[in-house]
Formats: sequence, C-alpha cells, structure tokens
Amino acid sequence: KNIVVLISGNGSNLQAIIDACQNGTIEDAKVTAVLSNQADAYGLERARQAGIEAVSLAASDYADREAYDKALAEQIDSFEPELVILAGFMRILSDEFVRHYQGKMLNIHPSLLPKYTGLHTHQRALDAGDKEHGTSVHFVTEELDGGPVILQAKVPIFAEDTVEEVTARVQQQEHRIYPLVANWFLQDRLMMENEAAVLDREPL
Ligand code: GRF
Repeated sequence: KNIVVLISGNGSNLQAIIDACQNGTIEDAKVTAVLSNQADAYGLERARQAGIEAVSLAASDYADREAYDKALAEQIDSFEPELVILAGFMRILSDEFVRHYQGKMLNIHPSLLPKYTGLHTHQRALDAGDKEHGTSVHFVTEELDGGPVILQAKVPIFAEDTVEEVTARVQQQEHRIYPLVANWFLQDRLMMENEAAVLDREPL
C-alpha cells in the first residue's frame, strides 16, 4: 500500500513512518512520495536518502490557494496513495482539498486536542502551567485541527522544563503513535464514519 507524506520541515515524524514501513510496524506499505511546500525542508533529504521520491511545490509559483491545492492534489494522486499523512505540513488546506481526501488523510497535532489548536502549543502549555501535555493523531476535516481524534499520547510537564525539553518529550511520543495509527488505517481497522473515528467497529 502507498503512503504519501506532506511536510514542511525537519520530518522526524516522516522518518518514524519510513522506519516503521521498513521494520514492519506498518505492514505491507511504503512511503511512495514526500511532498513539501519548502524546498529546503530537511525531510526532503530524509526522503532522498531512503530512495523515496521527493517533490517540492513552492506556493509562490501559484496564483492562489486554489491553484496551489489543485497542483498539490494532482501530485499526490499521481502516486495513488491509500493514505495521505500530514507530518508538520505548515499550510492551511482549502476545504475542497480536504474533502477530496476525506477519511484518508491523517494529521498529528502537538497538543491534547481539543486543547491548543493552532501554533506554539508547547509554549502555550508551559505558559498555562499545565502539568500534562501531549499529542493527538486525528482525521483531517475542514475544521482546522478539529477532525476526530484517533489516538493521543500524554507527557508530564515538570517544573523546570524548557520549551525544548517539552517539545522533545512530545515528539518522542509522536514517533511512537503515528506509525501505530497509520498501520491501523492501512490494515482496514480504522475509518472515519459520520465525522467520527471508528476502530475495530467501535467509535472512539
Ligand atoms: C510535529 O511536532 C507535529 O506534531 C507538528 O509539527 C511537528 C513536525 O515535526 N504538526 P517533524 O517535522 O515531524 O519533525
């Protein structure tokens, strides 16, 4: 089965997915292509090193969001993916684009959703004095960071923590849970039904 991953940056979650395909945590699947809106994203280098097609599409080459998303969708569809994974893809996607991949596109968001949608989630959790923080894998719907949550991992926040320490702690969990969810989906155990995530026929 084919996975296409969209990134904008470092691509550590991409790496976790690539590794999981290689070590069997994700069964019978491969990352067929990695697409980035940033030409210098390190994740593109990770893809090349793994022998995976690496494509960058610069927003500045397109007239507007509609044109960009159309080109992006054409690229994605040319790889015929069963699953589209957003892994630090830092662009708002149009409703039309999201609808096109409804039920087959996942995102990972670094907070315990519904808390802290949007940016700077680690800093916001620290500023709020939260004792607990984490990350969420969810289906992508038209509502930004609002699609049905599939799996979350919690981490503690300690009194002297820096934002770097919290980020690293959360990312370690991301690299563990994102491959698990991708595998459930590709094994047909997970689906989105009536805007809810369903695992082994049980609504989550
Ligand atoms: C992750 O923390 C993810 O939750 C967020 O963006 C970050 C991407 O990190 N959406 P990386 O590029 O996978 O290292």
